[in-house]
Amino acid sequence: MRGAPSLMKLTIEDVRSRFIKHFDGSTGNVYAAPGRINLIGEHTDYNNGFVFPGAVEQGMIAEIKPNGTRNVDVYSIDLKDRVQFSLDDPAGPKATWARYIFGVCREMMALGVPVEGFNAAFAGDVPLGAGMSSSAALESCFAYGLNDLFGGNKIDRLELAKVGQRTEHKYIGVNCGIMDQAISCLGKAGNLMRMDCRSGEVAYFPWNPKGYRLVLVNSNVKHALVGSPYNDRRLSCERAAAAIHELHPEVESLRDASYEQLDEVKDKISEEDYKRAHYVIGERERVLAVCDALEAGDYETVGHMMYETHNGLSKEYEVSCEELDFLNDIAKEQGVTGSRIMGGGFGGCTINLVDEHYYDNFVKAVREQFKAKYGKEPGIIDVVIGDGARRLC
Ligand code: GLA
Repeated sequence: MRGAPSLMKLTIEDVRSRFIKHFDGSTGNVYAAPGRINLIGEHTDYNNGFVFPGAVEQGMIAEIKPNGTRNVDVYSIDLKDRVQFSLDDPAGPKATWARYIFGVCREMMALGVPVEGFNAAFAGDVPLGAGMSSSAALESCFAYGLNDLFGGNKIDRLELAKVGQRTEHKYIGVNCGIMDQAISCLGKAGNLMRMDCRSGEVAYFPWNPKGYRLVLVNSNVKHALVGSPYNDRRLSCERAAAAIHELHPEVESLRDASYEQLDEVKDKISEEDYKRAHYVIGERERVLAVCDALEAGDYETVGHMMYETHNGLSKEYEVSCEELDFLNDIAKEQGVTGSRIMGGGFGGCTINLVDEHYYDNFVKAVREQFKAKYGKEPGIIDVVIGDGARRLC
């Protein structure tokens, strides 16, 4: 939607002024929900594994006000598009952006929240298609807002995250895991959050890497998970887990599997499924190793694991692209401690753990070299870990 500021530039006023202009001049409640980074643990959430994300300061802001009807009237400030839909028409709107909101309404209603019609205007400053979960921010912002306006805040944050996830599955067609919506709802400023995606258990780790900075480099190759090979990756994992389950009934997902067990079924699954499962098993170990290393203040190990993840995502899971591999190579050349593709892949950002002494040179090199090769500068986003979904006023 907007550019890629290092701090959230979008303000309540940006949204309120449009809400007043496009509706009846009155004001409603204003809610915000963030996008995310993920330090490590990629494509593990739908395998019941661990993830290690943090909320960012960029996100979505929505002003919402009940309108006394059964209709929703919503204005996207960034797209300059307005859509109306009835809460009671199961077909819902056609525009994809409005389907996210429709899905959230319907899933909240399915949980028993007495959602009524409302007017809303919203905008975001998470760059779209950057792998920073702008769609989860949108879902979480509305799920949180509707719970507050109509549900007496009875639905807990993890359940709100699941509302967003079901929206992706049922109304958008992306069979995503729970990571993006979970961190958007449960994030805490200054903390990364390790989540066990099987039990839903979360643990917060203060993120204060003395001497290092986290920086995203946006390739501006737009990643889109809708209709993308994302769902295929998930199916590969499920086939591999099912083959192992036949021999080892206790293995219900790749979370439970070992390399040895995967080797036992090597001849029963495709080479491609084997490689993908191999990546996922390694990633499970890497997340836990990174958590231990962080507690010990060992950033070299954190960085090493990030490079390993990049290799796995690029060579085994095959969700990288030329531009992202190029960015990873520059990071290595510039002495960056850790660097890897972040999020679903197929474009978007790399996440880089950079020793402060190398920061300026890295950013300069990455800008110049990327521009020389691809004709445009990549986006540089300094990461500040912000809060999860909340009411602003
Ligand atoms: C996308 C999905 C998440 C997760 C990541 C990869 O962001 O929405 O559920 O699977 O890809 O880790």
